Amino acid sequence: MFKKLNSLSKTERNLITEGMAKIEIGEAFYNPKMESCRDLSVLLLGELDEVSVCDGFAATGMRGIRYKLECPNVKKVTFVEVNGEVAKICRKNVKSNKIKAMVANKDIRELFQDRKARFDVVDLDPFGTPAIYIYDAISALSRNKEPSYLFATATDTAVLCGAHRHACQKTYNAVSLNASFCHELGIRILLGFIARVAAQFNLGMVPLLSYSHGHFMRVHVKLLRGDVHAYPSISQMGYTYYCPDCHVLRSFFATDKVKLGEICKDSKWIILGPVWLGQLHDNQMLLALAKKSTNYKELFSTMLKENPFLYYYDMHELAGRLKKSPGKIDEVIHKIWITGYDASRTHFSPLGIKTNMPLKELEGII
Ligand SMILES: C[S@@+](CC[C@H](N)C(=O)[O-])C[C@H]1O[C@@H](n2cnc3c(N)ncnc32)[C@H](O)[C@@H]1O
Repeated sequence: MFKKLNSLSKTERNLITEGMAKIEIGEAFYNPKMESCRDLSVLLLGELDEVSVCDGFAATGMRGIRYKLECPNVKKVTFVEVNGEVAKICRKNVKSNKIKAMVANKDIRELFQDRKARFDVVDLDPFGTPAIYIYDAISALSRNKEPSYLFATATDTAVLCGAHRHACQKTYNAVSLNASFCHELGIRILLGFIARVAAQFNLGMVPLLSYSHGHFMRVHVKLLRGDVHAYPSISQMGYTYYCPDCHVLRSFFATDKVKLGEICKDSKWIILGPVWLGQLHDNQMLLALAKKSTNYKELFSTMLKENPFLYYYDMHELAGRLKKSPGKIDEVIHKIWITGYDASRTHFSPLGIKTNMPLKELEGII
């Protein structure tokens, strides 16, 4: 579904081509494994109206250069890079790709706090967590143009996926769990964090494309101003309850009245979140991207076929727990369909199944 690329040799670092951009890397950070991440954002950005973009963590400038060269609707890109030597490399690349743009050598938060700097799209691609930049990034979005957009990468997947639970509580004010469904949980924690900050600005959030791949998670959200958007958006926040004894998951909106005794009498539930319980993608956007893309058709097709149920069961984990051998995923899905329940694969894991079949019944058919 995603392109597989490995690290570069010394000679390859001199001049590399990605999409329509040709850049020098020098001592700047460039990860060829993130080409898919840049490809997907280029595709999505190209679907928006005319926009100005802030490439907030520019490094070589590859991301912003591709946005300007490959998306005719991008009228202006501003590059920001905190490291002086790296900013010089970025400037050189911007110039050699014949782009007229400002490359600011400063901390992105300084630029965001400058009231004159306003962008229709802010792209955050830091090392580690984007959480500490979200508030300032949202405050720097255009006020006189609707909608605005935030794209963010998180490479602190171990934190979001619950391997470092305390770090997740500190960074995202949310409880995660290192469980088989942790990649979806992590994305929902990240989206939930953005939705809560957006609500403080009276903005509603609509996720356009969200995915987890390898060492990173990436979200692209649309933000719309006003109560009419902000309240329905923040109402999508809730909590996921997980029973460590029988592995049942239940999710509730923050304002729901919860009665768990009926589901699992004696269990001590682990409460995860707060999490975004709404959609992870916009289906119209997925359809447009699937139509346009040649390399990522399989990914978009999986996302489009993915049913809307929250989380997924990992068939190997489930079979291992039951001491059974895991059947073929497609065969299990078929068996679920025959019983009248819905089931689909998920882009989060090749071993995952999303279904509304109760876990006890699922355990009976695998
Ligand atoms: C992960 S790299 C960005 C990769 C790049 N976006 C790409 O797609 O190739 C992060 C870059 O952000 C820079 N950086 C780190 N903190 C920053 C900050 N607070 N403001 C601006 N740039 C920052 C780093 O020097 C580094 O070059």
